[in-house]
Amino acid sequence: MSKVPQLIKDGQVQAVALSERVHWIGALDPTLRTFDIILKTANGTSYNAYAVRGSEGVAIIDTVKENFAGDFFARLETVARYDEIKVIVLNHLEPDHTGALPELMRRAPQAQLYISQKAQSMLKALLKQDEFEFTPVMTGDQVTLGDRSLEFFHTPYLHWPDTQCTYLPEERILFSGDVFGCHFCDLRLFNDEVGDFRFSFEYYYAHIMRPFKEHVNRALDLIEPLLPISQIAPAHGPLLRDQPQRYVHRYRELSRAVQQSETGEGPKTLLIFYISSYGNTRRMAEAIYEGAMTVNNVRVSLFDLEGGEIAPFVDLIEGADGLLFGTPTINGDAVKPVWDLLSSLAVVNLKTKLGGVFGSYGWSGEAVKMVEDRLRGLKLRVPIPGLRVKLIPTEEEIRNCREFGLELARELTGVRQSRVIDMADLA
Ligand code: FEO
Repeated sequence: MSKVPQLIKDGQVQAVALSERVHWIGALDPTLRTFDIILKTANGTSYNAYAVRGSEGVAIIDTVKENFAGDFFARLETVARYDEIKVIVLNHLEPDHTGALPELMRRAPQAQLYISQKAQSMLKALLKQDEFEFTPVMTGDQVTLGDRSLEFFHTPYLHWPDTQCTYLPEERILFSGDVFGCHFCDLRLFNDEVGDFRFSFEYYYAHIMRPFKEHVNRALDLIEPLLPISQIAPAHGPLLRDQPQRYVHRYRELSRAVQQSETGEGPKTLLIFYISSYGNTRRMAEAIYEGAMTVNNVRVSLFDLEGGEIAPFVDLIEGADGLLFGTPTINGDAVKPVWDLLSSLAVVNLKTKLGGVFGSYGWSGEAVKMVEDRLRGLKLRVPIPGLRVKLIPTEEEIRNCREFGLELARELTGVRQSRVIDMADLA
């Protein structure tokens, strides 16, 4: 029979023990359906915070979203007095973890606040208060609670610059912040008791950690030497006490896919996405495809956005070296499927990729420039100005399209010649 931890007793919320000296003092938010505007959650989330008792004092690790502070303080009070709190650790300063911090520091003014070095500039901006004293810490720094201690591991960009993990070596418990977390709310709290949260774990990784794979790998280089860990205590979702190493290994698997563009190995990949109302942008796309195909060591693919789904395209884009987008101009704008795909790219790292834009238009043709600006905003390199054609491309314009594809493919392989400027042309 499932063992539901007693979160409420006699009408009062209760802390939940991870061990004799470590308690969960967080809050559940079961009705939340959208987190941070972009993340969906089908059954809410939790804001996990923890209390660690040592022989010389108590540490509080993270707090909760401000409007859940009541539950947090009530749970805290079931395991510690405020005058026992010696240490407050914030693994990450996003408001879902710092909402109750000002009030906690007011109730425990003797406590010392520990944050990462990178969190210093954020603390003031987030809390809009000047009077906080704090100690910035780096990887390897420790604080003692007597017979318990906490060690800090700076894990930047998982998923903010400030993020760190905190380790309790005497019990081998890792307080991991957002890392290994997910938005999943279940009264049973522990991963061996809650419902199936695999989808939530993968979804959270894909939307929060995936853009920072190289940083995830560096963080895992710090975390893996700690294995075997007895429990992972993340800032959201189930507490991972059953086979916690599985989640560490899964993060490594998900982050291992090194892009060909990073290794420089294999052919370069060029993806051409287009959508066409009357076939004119399609004709351009096909000619660009033909031109790019003539370049050795470039693998070119052509996709009509009308026949595809966003998610697999995003996966393809993550592994590609070059991206071309073809769009007509309709009512002075690029068309929705193009914007939809571009707006889905926040989850991948685009910085090393090459981009280009083309399209047919009727009378104004703003779309190409608009998409080009967007690509530059997403940090793609756009080495060749976008190619526009008025209505049906002529034979000469089709040749220009082939040349456009060929030049972009050459740019990918690093063999494109710089254009020689004839001074006579400038006269
Ligand atoms: Fe759970 Fe990035 O805050």
